[in-house]
Amino acid sequence: MSERLVEIETFSMDEEKVEVTLRPNAWNEYIGQEQIKKNLGVFIEASKKRDEALDHVLFYGPPGLGKTTLALIIANEMNANIKVTAAPMIEKSGDLAAILTNLEEGDILFIDEIHRLSPAVEEILYSSMEDYRIDIIIGSGPAAQTVKIDLPRFTLIGATTRAGMLSNPLRDRFGMSFRMEFYSSLELAKIIAQASNKLNKEIAHEASLEISKRSRGTPRIALRLLRRVRDFADVADEGDINHLRTKYALNELGINSHGFDEMDLRLLRLLAHANGRAMGLSTIAAALSEDEGTVEDVLEPYLLANGYLERTAKGRRATPKTYDVLNISLVSEEGTILS
Ligand SMILES: Nc1ncnc2c1ncn2[C@@H]1O[C@H](COP(=O)(O)OP(=O)(O)OP(=O)(O)O)[C@@H](O)[C@H]1O
Ligand SMILES: [Mg+2]
Repeated sequence: MSERLVEIETFSMDEEKVEVTLRPNAWNEYIGQEQIKKNLGVFIEASKKRDEALDHVLFYGPPGLGKTTLALIIANEMNANIKVTAAPMIEKSGDLAAILTNLEEGDILFIDEIHRLSPAVEEILYSSMEDYRIDIIIGSGPAAQTVKIDLPRFTLIGATTRAGMLSNPLRDRFGMSFRMEFYSSLELAKIIAQASNKLNKEIAHEASLEISKRSRGTPRIALRLLRRVRDFADVADEGDINHLRTKYALNELGINSHGFDEMDLRLLRLLAHANGRAMGLSTIAAALSEDEGTVEDVLEPYLLANGYLERTAKGRRATPKTYDVLNISLVSEEGTILS
């Protein structure tokens, strides 16, 4: 079994299909992120009352925490059409102009990976977000003409895993922006139980908790593990997913009990071997062959949130908890073991 089950970024088309059927499409099926839901609920109700389009919304945070899902649910709540696209698909400003001019009053445009828009495309987006108008230049040289096109009132929902890469002017044009939080074990257990129900499989509460603890606070990982555990139960001809089978399956799959993936472990080992010294972001990025932004926006948040990593003025440092889980000793300069 070479597939990395806790890998976050890539998944096969097949998995994507299953993921779509497991994706909640109503407000009450969307578990957790309570603060975001509370605020969004108010804004949605207000704009519905006034019969206006919702203000532009930005969601940012690590992959798999439910940004796309939330965008789809907003559309559902607003009774609005939603057009889903991703920044890499909008290459030229003309591509964006075509999308925008095809929108209707109250429509939602969802742009995923919005930090990847080119500057020229971003420029068009500014005026469309602010004034619901775009200027298109037709022709070139002295004969070039600017044509102004009015757009219907629409809502842009942007999502990004790399908030640090958004330009300020773009960020400022969103009326609301929300940072997605990692999920607690209990919330993940609820998500797992709900998905299991959709798969027509009963799951014991301890079993869903067991999966949730190894899911890195991330619904996408939790659902992926659930599907694998279900395979084990099906092969064993068990109608329900019980705790024992779940533990067996997770161990067979080599999923460690903290939910760390390979990249987490590489980062933590690197820091732990620095033996208490802090390491700069650029050194870490170079050692892992990743860019600094990915380390900062994608890799670190979970470890920081769970106390496995410390940010200091001098850089990043492993915590006693890190030495503990890695089973590495912290040694003082005189050679005494400190932790
Ligand atoms: N709050 C939630 N309640 C129930 N299920 C959820 C929730 N959040 C996410 N999920 C499930 O997790 C899966 C991944 O979520 P989603 O695709 O929305 O993440 P994302 O933040 O858009 O990730 P990416 O950054 O990779 O695009 C979804 O298919 C959905 O089924
Ligand atoms: Mg998404």
